[in-house]
Amino acid sequence: MTAAPKTTQVASSPSLKVQAGEIKVTGVHKSYGEGLFTKAVVEDCSFTIERSKLTVMIGPSGCGKSTLIRLLAGFEKPTRGTITLDGKPITGPGKDRLVVFQESALFPWMTTYDNIMYGPRARGENTKEARTLAETLLDKVGLRAFRKKYPAQLSGGMQRRAELARAMINNPQIMILDEPFRGLDAMSKELMWEYYAGLYEESGRTNFFVTTDIDEAIFLADRLLIMTNVPTKVRAVIEVDIPRPRSLVHMVDDDRANAVKMEALSLLHEEAMKSFAGGSKAAADFVDAYSKRRRVAAE
Ligand SMILES: Nc1ncnc2c1ncn2[C@@H]1O[C@H](COP(=O)(O)OP(=O)(O)OP(=O)(O)O)[C@@H](O)[C@H]1O
Ligand SMILES: [Mg+2]
Repeated sequence: MTAAPKTTQVASSPSLKVQAGEIKVTGVHKSYGEGLFTKAVVEDCSFTIERSKLTVMIGPSGCGKSTLIRLLAGFEKPTRGTITLDGKPITGPGKDRLVVFQESALFPWMTTYDNIMYGPRARGENTKEARTLAETLLDKVGLRAFRKKYPAQLSGGMQRRAELARAMINNPQIMILDEPFRGLDAMSKELMWEYYAGLYEESGRTNFFVTTDIDEAIFLADRLLIMTNVPTKVRAVIEVDIPRPRSLVHMVDDDRANAVKMEALSLLHEEAMKSFAGGSKAAADFVDAYSKRRRVAAE
């Protein structure tokens, strides 16, 4: 039986109140091509994106993470298996799920404020409530002073923050993010983690975040799904039971964070070695990070 969707009241910002959804993926297969040219990308994959939790998926490059996201978003259909949102099958895209991709989707001809207000205006909901929420979000992502600037006048990190605000104003039941901070420099990335974690903690929304960055994964996750190499499925689920709000400084010395990192890296190392044969750069990075970790542990 599926539990009724929970509405989370946010005391400090009533306008960030959300209805959080839950997704269940059961025995999903996805393959492309036909006959001799069939390629299985997802195989017998099952997991739950739990209500109001931040679930992070991490796996080797090319293992099938973005393919799974396209299935969750309803852009494509599984070859076999089922995906449900609050017990109802996902049959296509819907405004209950919102996907933030790595590539910027901001309109270059619109200011930050107009980009954030795009969704409500497109739905004919240019209401006082939407405008108040846009103001709240501008503050939450630290872009009040840049509200009248165009995307080209913003740094990469600011663009990503504008994009988070633009997604959140639509109040989806589930936010799905596909490596949204890939390509940012290390400092901007760490700043983004704190902004994003803050937004997540305040809204109580269900979030599904895909990454290949182990530190990003552990800093953000309530639950970590470790994926196998292609054709992908869940290799392990690790509960990241570290209290929130989290701080990067504290996480460096946190025993639990380090234990999770070791466990995750050793599993990812095995999976990465399989794709390493295929010459994947990210796989090589995993192997490198793992050997460094072992060296530090041995010292
Ligand atoms: N439409 C398609 N037709 C054929 N093969 C596809 C298609 N889409 C994806 N693939 C294959 O599926 C595999 C997984 O791709 P996907 O983009 O899902 O991986 P990923 O885990 O997101 O990788 P990355 O970490 O690099 O983003 C790749 O081998 C890719 O070539
Ligand atoms: Mg991808």
